[in-house]
Amino acid sequence: MRATATAHPNIALIKYWGKREIARNLPAVGSISLTLSELFTEMTIDLDGHDVDTFALNGEADESLLPRLASCLDNVLGPDRPRAAISSRCNFPVAAGLASSSSAFAAAVVAADAAAGSGHAQAELIRLAGRSSGSAARSLAGGFVELDNTGEDVAVHTLLNPDDWPLRVVIAVTESGPKPVGSGEAMEISRKTSPFYSRWVEEQPADLEAARRAIADRDFRRLATVSEHNCLKMHSLMWASQPPVVYWNEATMSCLYTVRELQAGAVDVFFTIDAGPQVKAICTAAAEAAVRDALATTRGVVDTRVSGLGQGAHVVESM
Ligand code: PMV
Repeated sequence: MRATATAHPNIALIKYWGKREIARNLPAVGSISLTLSELFTEMTIDLDGHDVDTFALNGEADESLLPRLASCLDNVLGPDRPRAAISSRCNFPVAAGLASSSSAFAAAVVAADAAAGSGHAQAELIRLAGRSSGSAARSLAGGFVELDNTGEDVAVHTLLNPDDWPLRVVIAVTESGPKPVGSGEAMEISRKTSPFYSRWVEEQPADLEAARRAIADRDFRRLATVSEHNCLKMHSLMWASQPPVVYWNEATMSCLYTVRELQAGAVDVFFTIDAGPQVKAICTAAAEAAVRDALATTRGVVDTRVSGLGQGAHVVESM
């Protein structure tokens, strides 16, 4: 009645922003992401003889994520489930716009299923992960992943495996503390108040199709153009919300200038930014060293992380 699962965070190129249904946490739009290899969350769930749920992150008791983890376990195992000792090891900052919820809830769903021996099918695990965090559903799969929001429940499939197009991701960390407003709350502010929200939802199928084709053709420039456009549209609609949702800091902007300078020098790189101030630069393997060096020396960057593309969430130990 104990299992450990590992999941990697994913970075969306065509973003999920906005919910179609709050109760089931269904996204208003489809999305396309890259599952990373070097960053991970390892989650252990022990269901033997505990009176209450507990959670420890990197060895320290942590109350902040416990309610969401407990309701994730309720979804996977039912409300009458045994109480759990949950512990997690994560090799990157959490709740800072580095997609930590994607890997945390993907790992939690897979570990809980294995610990209880529930034997849920993969499509069911995807649906259950999506209930806790829309982006977590994508971390069930590896490589280039598309989330389809058009059915009754979310579905996820791999567009390309990691080795089919081994792009690299350089993450420029500009602030490692937690973000001021969580993505779930910010999405609702945008949906209710941004004048650009409905246009964002309307245009998403065209961006998804452009990205799908660029990925199928391994066309870096076309993928760069549609990804940057989609990212800036998402942030623009947040900025136009009331109250405005601004995740960027000064260094975020400096990183965008760095990426533009690299592009002017014919380096294959483009940027994307999620619900936080970090900048993720996607590049070819040949461009990785130049991109990492340029971002590491950009004013305000406190750390850089480099990753390739990785596999979907999986069980590492079960007993
Ligand atoms: O899944 P959530 O609730 O963490 O929201 C993810 C939102 C973005 O990271 C900004 C976009 C995305 O598609 O991952």
